Amino acid sequence: MSDGLRVIEAVIVFVVIAVKVGILICVCRRRNQTDSRPVIPGSKFLTLAIDKFLNDMEREKPIRFTDQQLRIATDNYSNLLGSGGFGTVYKGIFTNGTMVAVKVLRGSSDKKIEEQFMAEVGTIGRIHHFNLVRLYGFCFEKNLIALVYEYMGNGSLDKYLFHEKKTLGYEKLHEIAVGTARGIAYLHEECRQRIIHYDIKPGNILLDRNFNPKVADFGLAKLCNKDNTHITMTGGRGTPGYAAPELWMPFPITHKCDVYSFGMLLFEIIGRRRNLDIKRAESQEWFPIWVWKRFDTAQLGELIIVCGIEEKSKEIAERMIKIALWCVQYRPELRPIMSVVVKMLEGSLEVPEPGNPFQHLMGAVTFAHPVQDSQTYNTTTTSSGSFVMVTNSSIICATPIMRKYEIELASRNV
Ligand SMILES: Nc1ncnc2c1ncn2[C@@H]1O[C@H](COP(=O)(O)OP(=O)(O)O)[C@@H](O)[C@H]1O
Ligand SMILES: [Mg+2]
Repeated sequence: MSDGLRVIEAVIVFVVIAVKVGILICVCRRRNQTDSRPVIPGSKFLTLAIDKFLNDMEREKPIRFTDQQLRIATDNYSNLLGSGGFGTVYKGIFTNGTMVAVKVLRGSSDKKIEEQFMAEVGTIGRIHHFNLVRLYGFCFEKNLIALVYEYMGNGSLDKYLFHEKKTLGYEKLHEIAVGTARGIAYLHEECRQRIIHYDIKPGNILLDRNFNPKVADFGLAKLCNKDNTHITMTGGRGTPGYAAPELWMPFPITHKCDVYSFGMLLFEIIGRRRNLDIKRAESQEWFPIWVWKRFDTAQLGELIIVCGIEEKSKEIAERMIKIALWCVQYRPELRPIMSVVVKMLEGSLEVPEPGNPFQHLMGAVTFAHPVQDSQTYNTTTTSSGSFVMVTNSSIICATPIMRKYEIELASRNV
């Protein structure tokens, strides 16, 4: 090939490459411009918004939603899942198919509590464990304070223990007890900052589609009970029947109050009945004390029959009874820590013979209540506001507080 032809060939190759690079730059620019435009539902760019949402979820950062996004996701709050001490829960679905439970908290937002709220949400939103319900994010706007949780397809445990046909067998219930104990143990013993739940009860044990238990509402007591939060928690701390004695007496409170509530929950799992059932004969009205009396007089056989426990589950049931009696000991320091409860439930640790947890109820015995080293909590509640649904969502930008707690804004179309 002559030199002249080589030069022409080189020029052609150069021109072709230059044209290709030029086209590529143009395409990229146009794409960037398009991305910054509002996302139109149904367009291919919607997937980009969804990708961002999923990325935020995967990066495990709490996401900040607007009231409008939540109103759309919940179809204007049309699907009620239930309500409790902190607020009302609605089912929601985002356009990417993620199902959520939106808990609308009673109260009104206030700039003063915004930082505190985000600090708490920032902590709760980063706690991940197989046996804890995941908090995806929140909304903190003038007219709406809400928390957005993963949706749990089979609802709460109370439904299966007390209402529906007793569809869950004893082995499954034992698994649920172990999983629940693991979730609480994680909150108490593995989180950087210990979290006391304060409201362990069957309504706060949620079941996913495979009936794996996940503890709900952890961190809420703190979030809703600070003097300056303006979010009201009705009924004070804990739920009657599950709340440890120290919660309604002027004694120091520690994580052992959750152990007590777990013990009460365990009794209900054992009996597949509410602990307090006034429809029953007086002697059986309060199940835990009835169980203690059977245990103390070596009549567990009667209990096994009354509770309809099959022969093959007898051993598990007896173990659960002893553990429940340990968990509800009157003196907090006698109650085991939750990781020990897990081991005893699993059977890897022998369960010693428990003493009478109800001595204070049966005889006039007074206890010198030991002073614990943990802080005490007051249970004052503050003013309440009402939840108002709004049609126009205010536009929210990431604030310095949000950046401080690494809170992400939800993509426009979630
Ligand atoms: N993440 C969730 N997924 C599915 N259902 C939920 C979820 N959170 C709460 N619920 C339902 O809403 C009900 C009310 O919840 P909540 O307000 O926490 O009240 P409580 O804990 O006192 O039962 C629960 O009993 C449960 O059936
Ligand atoms: Mg709850």
